Amino acid sequence: MAVILVTGGAGYIGSHTCLALQKAGHRPIVFDNFSTGFRKLLVTEEVVEGDLSRKQDVAAAFQAFPIEAVLHFASLCYVGESYRDPHKYYSQNLLNTLNLLEAMCLHRVPRIIFSSTCAVYGIPQEVPIPENHPTDPINSYGHSKRCIEWMLQDFHHAHGMDYIALRYFNASGADPAGRLGECHDPETHLIPRVFMAAVGDIPAMEIFGQDYPTPDGTCIRDYIHVTDLAAAHVAALERLLGGGGSGHFNLGTGNGFSIRQILQQTERMLGKKIPVTYGPRRLGDPPELVARSGRAGQELGWIPQHSSLSTILETAWYWFQKHTERIH
Ligand code: UFG
Repeated sequence: MAVILVTGGAGYIGSHTCLALQKAGHRPIVFDNFSTGFRKLLVTEEVVEGDLSRKQDVAAAFQAFPIEAVLHFASLCYVGESYRDPHKYYSQNLLNTLNLLEAMCLHRVPRIIFSSTCAVYGIPQEVPIPENHPTDPINSYGHSKRCIEWMLQDFHHAHGMDYIALRYFNASGADPAGRLGECHDPETHLIPRVFMAAVGDIPAMEIFGQDYPTPDGTCIRDYIHVTDLAAAHVAALERLLGGGGSGHFNLGTGNGFSIRQILQQTERMLGKKIPVTYGPRRLGDPPELVARSGRAGQELGWIPQHSSLSTILETAWYWFQKHTERIH
């Protein structure tokens, strides 16, 4: 059993990972400021309410618990917002991570698993995207995450800090047992927005751009189930705890679905038409993001178990229906 500090442990992916850590016999300690996290997503009572921008809060967590590794989820993650407000993304993603790394060095915690993103690739030159594809983000969110990967490399070389950066493609779905699921305020992600249109919470699902160079003109994404992402974190953690090396890995399925395909499959699942409107492209959206994800399979032994589109939609729908106090 290892004691793990989970920043952003009250968020969507962080909370699912806390559950997976517990199942694997580890002890997650949540560090969250609840600015975008939710108390209803906590799976442990061991919580440090604090802000990564305040060094004294970060220090308090390391003083209170014998932390052996950090899983660092806490970050802002709206592509569109990052395009409009880079300062917010550089300060809250980059500077906060620097505070965390400084505290880890001071308290001699030499392992970190970092939530990176496929947004580091920008507009890909080849799809599926291999890990050695050049990185050239097109929004501040992607830039901030790529900078953090470089920081981790530098701390690794200078201070022997071992790290694994996990580049998520599109996190989706919900805990199959229904305990946890996606919560964002505001909710901007495609699948919850499709459901909101299906039940009349919003008048229609707006498709952002239908003139992309893809077969049906809408953006293609690689949807990966959040429980599979959580399992990858446990595998990455155990690799570092076992003395395995640092690196970065794509987490996706290798299969892409367009916005229209997501809509059609949801309509089939629900047996009803979903109202749709068409709007302009959203700033900072690449046309197609699909992973080549063999490396995580070979080196971490990670095989997605829940990431068929039907399982993603069914588990997400189950959670969505249970949570009627939805955020619009
Ligand atoms: N979309 C719509 N209408 C909506 C919501 C989304 O057309 O109401 C489109 C988006 O423009 C995009 C696709 O659906 O083309 C998926 O959008 P999401 O917002 O669900 O996800 P993103 O691909 O924008 O973002 C995800 C993660 C980010 C990550 C990014 C990488 O949430 O953290 O992938 O580009 F950075």
